[in-house]
Formats: sequence, structure tokens, C-alpha cells
Amino acid sequence: MTDYRIALIPGDGIGVDVVEAGWSVLQAASRRFGFGLSGDAFPWSCEHYLRHGRMMPEDGLEQLRPYAAIYLGAVGWPRRVPDAVSLHGLLLPIRKGFDLYVNARPHRLLRGVKGPLRAEDFDILCIRENTEGEYSGAGGRVHGGTADEVAIETSVFTRRGVERVLRHGFERARKRRGRLASVTKSNAQKHSMVFWDDVTDLVAADYPDVAVTRYHVDAIAARFITDPGSLDVVVASNLFGDILTDIGAAIQGGLGFAASANINPSGGVPSMFEPVHGSAPDIAGRGLANPLAAIWSGALMLEHLGEVEAARAVLDAAERVVATGKILTPDQGGTASTAAVAAAVAAEVGP
Ligand code: NAI
Ligand code: MG
Repeated sequence: MTDYRIALIPGDGIGVDVVEAGWSVLQAASRRFGFGLSGDAFPWSCEHYLRHGRMMPEDGLEQLRPYAAIYLGAVGWPRRVPDAVSLHGLLLPIRKGFDLYVNARPHRLLRGVKGPLRAEDFDILCIRENTEGEYSGAGGRVHGGTADEVAIETSVFTRRGVERVLRHGFERARKRRGRLASVTKSNAQKHSMVFWDDVTDLVAADYPDVAVTRYHVDAIAARFITDPGSLDVVVASNLFGDILTDIGAAIQGGLGFAASANINPSGGVPSMFEPVHGSAPDIAGRGLANPLAAIWSGALMLEHLGEVEAARAVLDAAERVVATGKILTPDQGGTASTAAVAAAVAAEVGP
């Protein structure tokens, strides 16, 4: 029997609530589909920072490396630890240290969820470049505090970085509806974005079965609202993908549903699966958090591990619970607790 060892990082706030909820659903899937799923919990969080002066130990990455995957809740407790500290002390080192260059986020409406759009029939997979581009951190400030102050933030696009994320997008498109949208702003940014277009053409030559459309980021942002059903796989740079996936989350019913996978497709390191939402201090620890984003992220983890049938069963179970409209958290107009929703989904997955 395959036995997957998972590193659990609940983190802060509702991260703790939703990882517990999601993990119980994944356990139900492991029983029903007959694979082993064991987890070790790591208490790395803002509380850990306040006690030890670090978000995670110095050898944190080495501790995580042997695991099949990482299942993370959320980190951040802005009243006591600055967000820049919590983000740069835990999430970013994991994403960068394991070179998790694909950030994949599915955007569609689960059956029964009412989105804000008239359009309800869409199924978008956003692939955001996760390691370079506009968030490379290259730059600086000079002449601080004077009228001559200058700030420079340089985007870094490498052939290796752009090609590998596009290639991953094409692979995904091939297994879906065979369409890929490449997002740039190559009319205005004539170096990096024209380069992105050139690399898109190069990679596209290897995928004659995939239909490629180029969009400027502003135009595709509008299309997410006006005609989301026309989109399949969307590949974008770090900044553009960041913004587009917030639109994606909004049209799929909000943060309670938005799931994400940080993947290194070459394997050899653990990929990381997490809901898009943060630690939501305003509702933490009160059983109010919607666990569906974490459950969906767990399904993405099962899919990544190769348990495709189990992944589908988890998502189907979540949809059946949502579709009845009876067991919903308050953000969806219900009165059920985080744990009650998770228990209902787990029961639908199987005994
Ligand atoms: P947030 O996503 O935590 O919350 C935004 C709003 O959405 C809040 O009103 C919250 O109650 C609601 N919300 C979020 N998830 C929900 C869920 N599952 N069910 C029901 N309601 C939900 O974003 P915010 O408030 O900007 O950030 C709080 C902390 O989380 C900060 O420290 C921030 O840095 C951190 N953060 C961490 C992320 C991560 O770990 N990946 C991502 C985003 C924020
Ligand atoms: Mg964002």
C-alpha cells in the first residue's frame, strides 16, 4: 500500500481550523481508496516567532524535504507580527527554497454556489509564475527622504523561468480543453513581455494540439468578468497572475472557495497546497471559517500525488454538500460550523 507522509503546517488563525477540517476529509479519502496518509504537524507560525524569534527553525526546509507534500493553512497575525516578517519567514522561503515555480489555481463554481456573475458555466485553470518576474525583489532606493528620491523595482524574466512555466501550462491544456491563454502587456512592455510572447511561440511549436491565444492583461481581466467560459488554461507572470487569480476567486464565490497548489513539477521536493485566503483574525478560532478552500486544496494535493480518483471523490463530495444548501458556513449564508461542513463532506466521501 502506498503511504504518503504529509507535512502539516496549520499556521495562524483560521489556518489551524481549516487544516484540521481538510485533513479529516483527506483521511476519509485515504480509507475509501485504500492508500496510507500520515501527517506530522509543524507548529511554525507567528506564535512560534514570538517564542523563538523565527517563523521556522533554521533547518526548516531540510525537515520538510522528505515529505511527499506540504498542506498549509495560512500564516499571519498582523497585530503582533508584521506581515512582511511572517511571509518572508515561512511561505516565501518554502516557495523559493523548493523552487515551486507553478502556482496553479482552479476557478469554477462548485454546484450550488451562487457567484456574482450572470455567467455560471466557466472552468479556468490559472497558472501563475511563482519565482521571478515582477516579484524577483531586484531593485533599490536612493536619495532617501529627499525630493530626488528614486525607487527602482526590476522585473526579471529568464528563458528558463518563462519556458518551464509555459510548458507546464501547455501540458495542462492538453489534458483539459486544449486552449491556452498567454497573458502579457507586450504593447507597453517591449522587452520582457515581447520576450514572453517569443517564448510562447517557441513552446507552442511543441504543442500543435493546443490552441493559443495572446491576451493583454487588461483585456483578459475584463474577459474574466464578461466571458469567463471562453477561457481554459491561463498562463501569466507573477504579478499579472496574482491579480487575475483574485478576480478568479471573486467570480467563483469568494475566498471561501479559492484553492491553490504551489508545484515543482520535476518532483524530488515536496509541493505545497494551501487555500488562497489568509488567517482571518476577525473570525479565527470560532468555527466560522469556510473549510471548502482548504478541502479543495487537499483535493489538488491528492491529484498531485497521483490519487486522481480520490481527488475527484473529495471534490464531488464537497459539491454534493454545497448543492444541498443546508450545511454552509456563515459566509455562504448558513449557520454550520467549520467542523460540521468538514464532517458532512467526509461522510459523503465514504465511511
Ligand atoms: P484574509 O484572507 O485572512 O481575510 C479577508 C476576509 O475574508 C476576512 O474578513 C475574513 O474573515 C474572510 N475570510 C477569509 N477566509 C475565509 C474563510 N475560509 N471563510 C470565511 N471567511 C473568510 O485576508 P487578510 O485579512 O487581509 O489577512 C489576514 C492575515 O492573513 C494577514 O496577516 C495576511 O498577511 C495573512 N495572509 C496570509 C496568506 C497566506 O498564508 N497564504 C494569504 C493572505 C493573507
Ligand atoms: Mg493575491
